[in-house]
Amino acid sequence: MNTRPGPGRFVLFGHPVSHSWSPFIHGMFARQFDHVVDYKVQDVAPDRFRHAVINFFVEGGGGANVTLPHKPAAAEIVNELSARAERARAVNTIVRCSATELFGENTDGVGLVTDLTRNLGVKIGGSRLLILGAGGATRGVLAPLLEHEPRELRIANRTPERAQRLAEEFADLGEISATGFHAVENRPWDIVINATAASLAGEVPELPPRAVGAGTVCYDMAYGRGDTAFMRWAAGRGVERAHKGWGMLVEQAAESYLLWHGVRPETKPVMGALDRL
Ligand code: ATR
Repeated sequence: MNTRPGPGRFVLFGHPVSHSWSPFIHGMFARQFDHVVDYKVQDVAPDRFRHAVINFFVEGGGGANVTLPHKPAAAEIVNELSARAERARAVNTIVRCSATELFGENTDGVGLVTDLTRNLGVKIGGSRLLILGAGGATRGVLAPLLEHEPRELRIANRTPERAQRLAEEFADLGEISATGFHAVENRPWDIVINATAASLAGEVPELPPRAVGAGTVCYDMAYGRGDTAFMRWAAGRGVERAHKGWGMLVEQAAESYLLWHGVRPETKPVMGALDRL
């Protein structure tokens, strides 16, 4: 990949996207370096996505983030994919190499792993790790999690066959298995990550009650003001450490910033600011 810092116009494509915190985060990053960065959101329907991306870069855009539902489509548009984005079959960061040469990366998994290990002090290596959900959110983080060599990684999903397919696809990268929620062992896992869309509806996957205990670290990839339904569920079962995905959001953004501008911003001040909102 031959990248260079592009001009100062950046965009987040999504649908919907108006609720995004990314302009705030990238604005705080830019101030750390006295960079002048124009980062906006653009709501674009799926049938207009390809056109919008090409237009943006032809008109001199420096780089783009991509969120739901466009991540898989972005992987089809770029000219070159990182190994991670290829595995995830999804791109959340587009880097401009030239007006017609676009590179696609997926920083979601690194964002999650950095938040867990560096910010929260969680040891993934040697752990028993349960991940809930078998959609795009799970696919995007499996490879970076497996790189840290958990003793066991289980995918549990409402539709077990979907989890099974995902486990088979990633089996070459580590110890990985799949079940439905009810078949999960009723003894505490070390780490439970919620990557289902259930939180959005205020629902929680139906896990056996003792799948979590006081020592389990629960992590909800969803985020927002206050505790998520999954965090409240965990606290109700005696879990002492339940986190939401703020840190993952900020860390994946820092990785995008590094790809575009060649410097990695400090993430702690941004997380502090989000906590105070
Ligand atoms: P994403 O890209 O956000 O992961 P997705 O591909 O639609 O979105 O996947 C959503 C995930 O959330 C799936 O694992 C889905 O389970 P199914 O595969 O059985 O559909 C899960 N999910 C959505 N709503 C849920 C709920 N209320 N309870 C449990 N799991 C749910």
